[in-house]
Amino acid sequence: MAAKTTIRSVDLNREFREIGADINEAISRVLRSGWFVLGNEVAQFEQEFSGYLGVKHALGVNSGSDALFLALKALGIDKTDEVITVSHTMVSTADAIVRCGATPVFVDIEPDTYCMDVERIEEKITERTKAILPVHLYGHPVELDRITQFARRYELLVVEDACQAHGAEYKGKKVGSFGDIGCFSFYPTKNLGCYGDGGIVVTNDSDLAKNVEMLRNYGQSQRYHHDVVGINSRLDELQAAILRVKLRRLDVWNKTRRELAKYYTELLEPTDIKLPVEKGYAKHVYHQFVVQLSQRNELQRYLKRNGVQTQIHYPIPVHKQKAYEGVGDSANLPVTEIACAEILSLPLYPSLAFDGVSRVGELIRNASC
Ligand SMILES: Cc1ncc(COP(=O)(O)O)c(C=O)c1O
Repeated sequence: MAAKTTIRSVDLNREFREIGADINEAISRVLRSGWFVLGNEVAQFEQEFSGYLGVKHALGVNSGSDALFLALKALGIDKTDEVITVSHTMVSTADAIVRCGATPVFVDIEPDTYCMDVERIEEKITERTKAILPVHLYGHPVELDRITQFARRYELLVVEDACQAHGAEYKGKKVGSFGDIGCFSFYPTKNLGCYGDGGIVVTNDSDLAKNVEMLRNYGQSQRYHHDVVGINSRLDELQAAILRVKLRRLDVWNKTRRELAKYYTELLEPTDIKLPVEKGYAKHVYHQFVVQLSQRNELQRYLKRNGVQTQIHYPIPVHKQKAYEGVGDSANLPVTEIACAEILSLPLYPSLAFDGVSRVGELIRNASC
């Protein structure tokens, strides 16, 4: 009998087989144009993405990390400020704060959504607090109404890290459009990913949009007039053209992710493993399908032996990283620390299809760990 193929944790080759013709056409259009940085494709994509989210402005940048950094910079965050965020995230959320010279203040997460526990925000607010930076982790929205309430009450800015949540909704409205600024990554494995690095900053505030536009392009207000010290962080024309092809499919792909997540849930409900939840206010887009169990390492090894790749997002919280020794306030994060020791991301992406989920689900049901 032929050996079963490996189920990869992400498989972009399959996606390319589906959309390759359109991608090749888009790439060749850019090559024929002879224009590669800040041209028509970026302008069109910015318009299409802002239309998709229902915001006024979108500015393409080099990565999600730069999107976060430029957002905080544009808001004037500096070394006197504290920014409230989570430790259970990709490290670049916190890096953006530190790159501005500000101090990250970590709040614990909810045990079910793994997103910021909004009821713990108030105890971390000080006179230096300037902003809240929640993360819509794994594609599940944060409880945004509470965050907006605290922001109003304490006059704080809100920057949404929506790097894992393209198309996710909070009470029927797309995330990224709630805060003063929203930030997205287009890293290839994201729900909307390009074929290299890319990111975008979105906002309804025209002055902030102008600031980001300058900051991403050497601080220029017009050619060779540098009003502020900026950086070079621009989405390029090739990536924008690729993203335009993929944006048209995002809703269908997210729908498939949701169906596959539902199927996983049906298969795994009889087990003792803790499964992802979708809160009443949320439309989850399952960037990751994260389960939790105390024998996480055993299950990961068992799946690997049986040809299934898995990942851990993330095994070490930010406050336990060497780079963050003595940085910021990391008191009282027990839920974060337990999650990091017990979570496992199972394969979930549109081209995995029901067969793939079925195989992984059956393996887990038959596991003795
Ligand atoms: C939650 C979160 N924030 C920020 C980033 C940074 O995005 P990028 O890799 O595009 O710099 C990522 C990407 O992995 C992310 O998942």
